[in-house]
Amino acid sequence: MRKSAKLISAASSVALLLGALAVVPGVASADEALAAEGKKIAENRKKGNCFACHDYKGAHLAGNIAPPLVAMKARFPDKAKLRAQIWDPTKNNPNTIMPPFGKHEILSEKEIDAVAEWVWTL
Ligand code: HEC
Repeated sequence: MRKSAKLISAASSVALLLGALAVVPGVASADEALAAEGKKIAENRKKGNCFACHDYKGAHLAGNIAPPLVAMKARFPDKAKLRAQIWDPTKNNPNTIMPPFGKHEILSEKEIDAVAEWVWTL
C-alpha cells in the first residue's frame, strides 16, 4: 500500500469510529440534555404545568383547553418564535389564558430556553 492510501484508510477508520460513537445510546447531545431538562420543568406542577392545558405525546392526564403540542418544528420553524410564545403569549393574543411565563417571571430565562428546546422536539 502506498503511503497516501494508508493515510486515507486510517482516516476512514477514524471516521467510522466517530460515526459509531454518535449512535451509542446514552451519549446525548447538548440539545437533547437541554430538552430533557425542559421536559422536567414543563411537567413540574409548580413550574410549567403545561399539561394542565396542553396534551402531547406521553402526557399523563392532560387537559384539552389548549391546542395539542404536536409537529412543533413544522408549526414553528423558527425556534425563537416558539420561545417568544412561551415567554409572552399575550403578544400574539391579548386575551389568551396561557400564562406569560417569562414576562411574569414564572420561569427563568434559562428554564424557558430548556422548555422551548423540549417543545420543539414534540
Ligand atoms: C392555562 C392554560 C395553559 C397553560 C398552563 C399553558 N398554555 Fe400554552 N396555550 C394555551 C392556549 C389556550 C393556547 C392557544 C393560543 C392562544 O390562546 O392564544 C396556547 C398556545 C400555546 C402554544 C402555541 C401553539 C400553536 O400551535 O400555536 C405553545 C407553543 C404553547 N402554548 C406552549 C406552552 C408551554 C410550553 C406551556 C408550559 C410552559 C404552556 N403552553 C402552558 C393555554 C395554556
